[in-house]
Amino acid sequence: MLIARDLKKIYHMGEIEVHALDGVSFQINEGEFCVIVGASGSGKSTLLNILGGMDSPTSGEYELDHQLNTNFNAKALSEFRRKDIGFVFQFYNLLPSLTALENIMLAEGIAEHPLSSQEMLESVGLKERANNFPSALSGGEQQRVAIARALVKNPKLILCDEPTGALDSKTGKTIIALLQKVALENHKTLIMVTHNGLFTKLANHVIRLQDGKIIEDYYNEKPLTVEDIEW
Ligand SMILES: Nc1ncnc2c1ncn2[C@@H]1O[C@H](COP(=O)(O)OP(=O)(O)O)[C@@H](O)[C@H]1O
Ligand SMILES: [Mg+2]
Repeated sequence: MLIARDLKKIYHMGEIEVHALDGVSFQINEGEFCVIVGASGSGKSTLLNILGGMDSPTSGEYELDHQLNTNFNAKALSEFRRKDIGFVFQFYNLLPSLTALENIMLAEGIAEHPLSSQEMLESVGLKERANNFPSALSGGEQQRVAIARALVKNPKLILCDEPTGALDSKTGKTIIALLQKVALENHKTLIMVTHNGLFTKLANHVIRLQDGKIIEDYYNEKPLTVEDIEW
């Protein structure tokens, strides 16, 4: 479903070149739960932003569903983000002046084949919080809204950048379990980047980044569930 070929990203900082991605190639199958793991600064966010059409590589190719994304112009990239990608970020990125339900409806409104905002809110367990503003919600609840917002678009790909990075470990567990559940129920391909090596045990597919290079790429025969792991 997703093919990356020799992706490179070079940032220029005055005289210095930072090779954030240094020739990255991999494939991801439809319906997979893929965890991209690596230390801080290894290039995870750079890679995820390219996969989500928020950034372009310096060189290399990226194909999603037989479409060569790296040839897209700004308009095509914008449409791609709107239709095909659901994002979940570390700090939720909800609009503070909209209620939980309205945040989800905003995404529903720009999608091509959306699901129901009300139903998505219920599926993340927040039916009773529909009319609350983000400031009245806990971090875990805000992340649930963000997950519903990503899923309501019915995108091809759900991309999560350290989705539990701002949460305590217990809340983090419920968020990962929820992400797994809703992705499975909706037959979505889920890519999560994290510095937490424990999460690799939950994934079907693990890609390990170090200094902008892939140093490991493997499949788990038997992924564990969140209840099976301690952190
Ligand atoms: N906009 C930018 N300008 C310059 N350097 C950047 C920029 N974004 C990321 N980098 C550098 O690229 C490398 C990879 O960063 P990043 O993808 O954010 O890693 P991670 O998400 O794994 O922590 C780091 O050395 C970082 O400092
Ligand atoms: Mg990052």
